[in-house]
Amino acid sequence: MLTESAVYDALRHVQEPELGRDIVTLEMVKGVTVDADRVALTIDLTTPACPLKDEIERDVRAALAGAGAGEVDITWGATVRRSVAAASTPLVPGVRNIIAVASGKGGVGKSTISSNLAVSLALDGASVGLLDADITGPNIPLMMGLEGAPASSADGKIVPLARYGVKVISIQFFVPQGQPIVWRGPLVGGAIQQFLRDVDWGELDYLVIDLPPGTSDAQLTLAQAVPISGALMVTTPQAVAISDVDKALAMFRRLSVPVIGLVENMSAFICPHCGEATEIFGRGGGERFCREQGIEFLGGIPLDIKVRQGADAGVPAVAQREPGVAAETMRTLARTVAARVSVRAARQQPVLSIT
Ligand SMILES: Nc1ncnc2c1ncn2[C@@H]1O[C@H](COP(=O)(O)OP(=O)(O)OP(=O)(O)O)[C@@H](O)[C@H]1O
Ligand SMILES: [Mg+2]
Ligand SMILES: [Zn+2]
Repeated sequence: MLTESAVYDALRHVQEPELGRDIVTLEMVKGVTVDADRVALTIDLTTPACPLKDEIERDVRAALAGAGAGEVDITWGATVRRSVAAASTPLVPGVRNIIAVASGKGGVGKSTISSNLAVSLALDGASVGLLDADITGPNIPLMMGLEGAPASSADGKIVPLARYGVKVISIQFFVPQGQPIVWRGPLVGGAIQQFLRDVDWGELDYLVIDLPPGTSDAQLTLAQAVPISGALMVTTPQAVAISDVDKALAMFRRLSVPVIGLVENMSAFICPHCGEATEIFGRGGGERFCREQGIEFLGGIPLDIKVRQGADAGVPAVAQREPGVAAETMRTLARTVAARVSVRAARQQPVLSIT
């Protein structure tokens, strides 16, 4: 005779692979009901974009079958934990994690990756915001297919525009089209703080920030002004981009901003005719850099015409009806990033000390 406590006992043998603790201890098992040999339960993941969901499901089903369960009905939920960085500031009370997308060199694909990361997390069910911190060269509105002026809420806050399930704010929404935007470096941090404070972000699992290129004043003040939970570094395989990402990495380290890892964009060209991959800019640069620096290499995203076309047409690759190879890679990247962020947040939470 299967009991509720036998179900819990069986599930104590199922590990959350990345946290290295069992899912009962981690309080991921909820609402267990047992009816003869039929079991229903909810598994509460640490992110809806969990890359390990299939693995966890397989282990749960195996453990319950071993305990004598017949039919098993799993409902999936997710509670994204708040990072300590995000909790350290009264700027954004509803924002659980802030992910900054950064590079040393310009034009390596930060905005492309920021928009696809945000949309991908939203497609997986997370509540997501996207903040265009490129004050002098804002590209996010174009890439997200957004224009127009945000409205004000009853309490005088700015209401972000929304597309593909993502709340978006960019300086572009506040200036007339085609007008150049000139800011001095130190003002940028203040402008971004204002975007955090004065925008009605509501409850967000992730706020993705698309940083401007370089390690200039602007980036520096920004990295100091914003409580970044993790920085995602972007480079291209060329040596020069790598040496620039080195400077950006040093800056984050100096400011004690946690670095999630490095993604190598435009790592190969996928021929639209035959699908063959050609490594135009060489290979291995990003991976080597990560080994030397002791940061995680998060893989390469190929050069894919659909990514460029999508960016120009306001349809991020991951939101396209027929996503290409690069879009698939970016879905995986987004889940990996979400997993790394939740591992970091979970390690900071007291729940892990409960045994
Ligand atoms: N994987 C890719 N495949 C094809 N085109 C890409 C890819 N990644 C980026 N691009 C294109 O490369 C150009 C530069 O990308 P993007 O604007 O995202 O770079 P950035 O790092 O944000 O630049 P900046 O430093 O100017 O802000 C864009 O036209 C974009 O569509
Ligand atoms: Mg950009
Ligand atoms: Zn070809």
